[in-house]
This record gives sequence, C-alpha cells and structure tokens, in this order.
Amino acid sequence: MGYHPPVDIRQVTNRVIGLGSHRALQSKTDLQGIITHASQSLADTSGYSVEELIGQPHNILRHPDMPDTVYYLMWQRIQAGEEFYGIVKNRCKNGDHYWVMTRVAILRQDNRPIGYTSARFLPRADLIPIWEDLFRRLREAEQASGFRDERRYGPAKDLLCKFVQRKGYENLGQMVLSQRG
Ligand SMILES: Cc1cc2nc3c(=O)[nH]c(=O)nc-3n(C[C@H](O)[C@H](O)[C@H](O)COP(=O)(O)O)c2cc1C
Repeated sequence: MGYHPPVDIRQVTNRVIGLGSHRALQSKTDLQGIITHASQSLADTSGYSVEELIGQPHNILRHPDMPDTVYYLMWQRIQAGEEFYGIVKNRCKNGDHYWVMTRVAILRQDNRPIGYTSARFLPRADLIPIWEDLFRRLREAEQASGFRDERRYGPAKDLLCKFVQRKGYENLGQMVLSQRG
C-alpha cells in the first residue's frame, strides 16, 4: 500500500553479487524472448520472484553495461538453431549485478521450434575485469559507428573477433566454454 515510485530499471549500484550456493540459473522463453519458465535459483539471484519474471521480456535482466552486439550475435545464432555461449553481466532488481557464463539454445517440439532455453553458470572470476573492459570497448565502437541499422554492429563484431583470436580461440563459444569457474 502507499505510493511506490516507479523503479528505474537502468539504475545500477556497481555492486557485484555471487551465485551463492546455486550451480545453474535456468530460464526458458517463447520464440519472442518472453520468459515462460525461470528457476528458483535465477529468481533468488536476480531479486525478482519467479512470478515476476514469467511473462516478461528477457531483457528485464539486462544490465546497461552489456553491448547490443553480444545480444545481436546471440539472436543470430539461436534463430539459426545454433547454440550460443557467452559471458554476461546481468542486472538484479535492486541494481546490483552478477556475472554468468551462459548457454542459450533453441527448444523444439516435434521438430518445430517452440522457444529457447538457457542455463547460466559461474564464470572464472579472474577474467571478469577483462570482459568488463572488452564490453566497454564494444559499446564505444557501437556508439562511434554512427549507423542505425545492422551495420552498427560491424566494428564491435570485428573487435570481438580479434579479441577471441588473439587469445588463441577459433570462436567466442570455444573461448567462453574454457572459462567456466
Ligand atoms: C533463452 C534466453 C535467455 C536470455 N537470457 C538473458 C539474460 O540472462 N540477460 C539478458 O540481458 N538478456 C537475455 N536474453 C536476451 C534478451 O531477450 C534481450 O535480447 C537482451 O537483453 C537485449 O535487450 P534488448 O532486446 O532490449 O536489446 C535472453 C534471451 C533468450 C532467448
């Protein structure tokens, strides 16, 4: 009861939280990215209840530090029926954040795509500052590109590719898979 000021969903605290005793945070969406299932572990970590998450677009968990390019690449892959592996910084309801190594994949029933499924695990803590720095450079590249269409992602995609190759990996997925905490 009483007056509840609207919560600014982009407000952040810059405070990082861990996954506690949770080993995997899971969710499922329909083909549009609307959450249809959320594990209690995802709810506990994000600060939303399972009921609050279900029915919301999955960007409810988005942290403003995440580059658009990462999600652009994710949707490209999963819509093509391929798995996506990425390191993700997610925002909690109160503006705190947590880092996860994420797998997203298509869900099929009778061979027809019906949605997507995702699982998130603890990433290697020592590499977080490197991802933080890379994501900042990707966002700068997105802003500097000046385009409003898909060309906007070009420079950041190139940066990400070079980053992965310099570390000796063939692609982002291979690199991320080697970084489970
Ligand atoms: C199964 C699945 C899981 C997802 N998990 C996350 C997530 O944990 N955090 C997040 O920010 N976006 C997640 N997304 C991507 C969002 O749907 C969205 O594309 C992203 O947050 C970018 O926000 P935007 O659509 O406003 O650009 C997920 C999408 C799918 C299909």
